[in-house]
Amino acid sequence: MWHGVLVMNNTQSIVLTGFMGTGKSTVSHYVAKILKRRVLDTDQMIEERTRLSISRIFALRGEAYFRVIERGVCHELALRSHMVISTGGGALMNEDNRKAFLESSFVVCLFAEPSTIESRISKSQNRPLATQWKPLLEQRLATYQALPNAIHTDNKTPENIAKEIITLWTESQ
Ligand code: S3P
Repeated sequence: MWHGVLVMNNTQSIVLTGFMGTGKSTVSHYVAKILKRRVLDTDQMIEERTRLSISRIFALRGEAYFRVIERGVCHELALRSHMVISTGGGALMNEDNRKAFLESSFVVCLFAEPSTIESRISKSQNRPLATQWKPLLEQRLATYQALPNAIHTDNKTPENIAKEIITLWTESQ
């Protein structure tokens, strides 16, 4: 198997973060397929728990409520090993969430050019913060850049991005 024994011995979960539209969800499935792991997605878990879509949560309950649920999910997932965890773009902006994942897991931040982000998120219906993406990205960029493992995703296939992530992860051991 690709990367053999090193991969099998590493029990740490891989956590994908990065701004909206950087490809976290898509790439998480490629990483999971290669490693034969399960994907857990914070937004999906929030939707299951509240039985509401992300846009409905924001519309009915507000962002603060969303962040409370998100925090609970992140702290729960930080305790899990052997997973591939895809997080919502704002999840690791919270210092407690960030610390919890950085202590327990292998955190990778995905980056994309603003033009790529804009074209990807302009099509989505379930991203309540998409209209504010420019100032939000500016506000968050330093925090994303301070994370330990960065991957630039422009002009790469999801499969190659996944392989890059696994290489970083095996080299980190
Ligand atoms: C958010 C990103 C979204 C989702 C929510 C808030 C953010 O996830 O969690 O709309 O604050 O950046 P994606 O990054 O998967 O779009």
